[in-house]
Amino acid sequence: MEQQANIVLLGAPGAGKGTQAAFLVQRLVIPHVSTGDMLRAARAAGTELGRKAAQYMDAGELVPDDIIVGVALERLAQPDCAQGFLLDGFPRTLPQAEALTEALGQAGRRIALALNLDADEAEIVRRLSSRRVCRGCGKIFSLAKKQVQEGGACPECGGEVYQREDDQPEVIRERLAVYRRQTEPLIGYYRQQGVLRMVASIGSPDEVNDAVQAVLKETF
Ligand code: AP5
Repeated sequence: MEQQANIVLLGAPGAGKGTQAAFLVQRLVIPHVSTGDMLRAARAAGTELGRKAAQYMDAGELVPDDIIVGVALERLAQPDCAQGFLLDGFPRTLPQAEALTEALGQAGRRIALALNLDADEAEIVRRLSSRRVCRGCGKIFSLAKKQVQEGGACPECGGEVYQREDDQPEVIRERLAVYRRQTEPLIGYYRQQGVLRMVASIGSPDEVNDAVQAVLKETF
């Protein structure tokens, strides 16, 4: 039987998860479920979830498991995720991973692929300091690559391009420390489940995408 494309994207902040997710969902035609994007949308809409999450996000800390697990599992229960999904930013702790495994198991499903994007820390800091995002279409840009100008408009939709609050240097450092402490152990968790694949996030986004596509071909 053909495997369902239930995919988890792992990797440190700035490893390129959002960038690769944009390529992947086009190729696989599955929804991109980014808990970070969901929290930022809740924040922009001024909901209670958004207000609660903001204090953690701005400090570079994780939103507590009891909040985020409910948000993510509710999203995965939507009909558009029934044939597969690409999870970006979830799970991020072992309790989150266990809750996901259990919820999928109850529906007779499982994660088919946990793809870890592996990037060097100095490169991550360079990428995140230079990242700009469009408020309109969500597209991710790099100032360093001159994909957009500081204060300029989005070349795709003309929307406002901004720097994420958590892309300030001291918050980046805290996010990386939190990643090493709380999220990196998931590499071992998914390795034990036999679904882990590592891809070096080195070279241009297109080159990384070639390596990712090669893994997909072998898996699905
Ligand atoms: P989230 O939005 O998930 O952020 P993150 O995991 O820290 O990841 P990023 O979005 O920063 O990086 P990315 O890997 O997607 O890199 P990108 O492709 O943009 O989470 C934010 C916050 O929300 C968390 O800190 C937490 O508070 C909360 N949260 C979310 N989920 C949670 C959960 N499950 N539990 C608890 N809390 C949660 O690339 C970065 C830059 O590099 C871009 O400018 C891009 O253009 C550039 N770039 C990408 N690839 C390349 C390349 N190959 N070469 C050169 N440049 C590149």
